[in-house]
Amino acid sequence: MRGAPRDAVVEVPVARTADVAPGTARQVVVQGAVIALSNVGGQLYAMDGVCVHRGGPLGEGDLQGKVLECPLHGWTYDVTSGQSLVNPAAKLRMYPVAVRDGEIFLDL
Ligand code: FES
Repeated sequence: MRGAPRDAVVEVPVARTADVAPGTARQVVVQGAVIALSNVGGQLYAMDGVCVHRGGPLGEGDLQGKVLECPLHGWTYDVTSGQSLVNPAAKLRMYPVAVRDGEIFLDL
C-alpha cells in the first residue's frame, strides 16, 4: 500500500530578492514562524530564525560566508544546513526556497 500523498506545497511570498543582498541575512515572520533568510553568494537559504541558546533573532545576525552569528551571545550556525557550530546536538529546521520574478517564496 502506498503512503498518503504529501499535502499540496504551499509557497508563501516572504520578501523580494533585492531585500536580501549577497552576504546578508534578514528576519522574516511568516504565519507566526520567525525565519532567518540568508544570501550566500547569490544562493538563498531559509532556516528557523530563533537561536536555540536563548531565543536571539538570528535574522538580525552577522553573516560571514555561510556562517550566521547570533547577535545576542555569538552562537554560530551553518545557514545551508541549520547546524549549530557551537552545539553539535542543535540543528535548526530548514525551509525550501523558491525565487520567481524577484520574489522569494518559502515552502512552509
Ligand atoms: S541567544 Fe543566541 S547566542 Fe545567546
